[in-house]
Amino acid sequence: MNLYLEPPGFLGTGASLLADLTLIFYILLIAPAMLIGFWLARRGRHRPAHRNLMIAVTAINWVLIIFLMLVAYRFDVAGNFPNQPTAPRYLLPVLHALLGLPAQLLATYIVVRMLIEDVRVAQGKRRGEPVTQLRRYWFKQAKPAMQITLGLWLATAALGVITYLVRYEVLPGSASGEAAPPVATPEVQPPVGTAEVVPPVETPEVQPPVATPELDEDAAEDAIRAAERSARDATRTAEEAAEDATRAAEDHD
Ligand code: HEM
Repeated sequence: MNLYLEPPGFLGTGASLLADLTLIFYILLIAPAMLIGFWLARRGRHRPAHRNLMIAVTAINWVLIIFLMLVAYRFDVAGNFPNQPTAPRYLLPVLHALLGLPAQLLATYIVVRMLIEDVRVAQGKRRGEPVTQLRRYWFKQAKPAMQITLGLWLATAALGVITYLVRYEVLPGSASGEAAPPVATPEVQPPVGTAEVVPPVETPEVQPPVATPELDEDAAEDAIRAAERSARDATRTAEEAAEDATRAAEDHD
């Protein structure tokens, strides 16, 4: 189950239950606990009150960072921030993380150094070392380191609350800023050119050869003979006509 997404929260902002609880815890418990720890140190109640409170705050911070903030960061911020770096819903968590991560690492370092100091001092005491000797085990830069941590913690927590208000659109006009970029779609390719379909060249219908009657050899010979005969007849008729004409001319004379 993704605790950043479900179960739904109770503040009516659309955030998950863990996000809503985290917001309320920081405002009502964790930020006040940071200030109370500072106050305890100023009052000289370093051990065990101040030490235990700071260990608890650091550990709870880690739990919330790992189970809510890192999940939200990876799920929604890391991928979108490079595309929309000015959108408040992505820019704010990035600035918040840039402040919060060193704060949390510094707090963790201080806690570890404090615990190491306690173990070494206890061992020195068991060995019977005088207080002047025990001083060498002290974490001498603790005070400025703790002051820096407190400043970064409080600034990070305040930015975290603003981040919540912006991301869940509680502040008017604090919506995501820019519209989400369009989902990448594959480039539209022009249709591949296809050669125009040319209709097949029209070819005249092949006509079967007109049936010609088979040449009859005998008929041909008959036809030739008939032609010769009619030619002879025509010649004879012409000669007779010429003779008749000559005779008629002589008779006339
Ligand atoms: C000292 C360390 C930190 C403190 C005190 C802190 C505090 C807060 C607070 C009070 C909120 C608003 C509550 C909420 O949204 O539920 C928040 C939200 C958030 N924090 Fe942190 N934070 C710290 C470190 C970090 C780190 C190191 C990251 C980087 C991953 C981070 C990323 C986020 C994100 C992404 C949100 C928005 C969560 C959401 O959308 O619900 N925080 N933080």
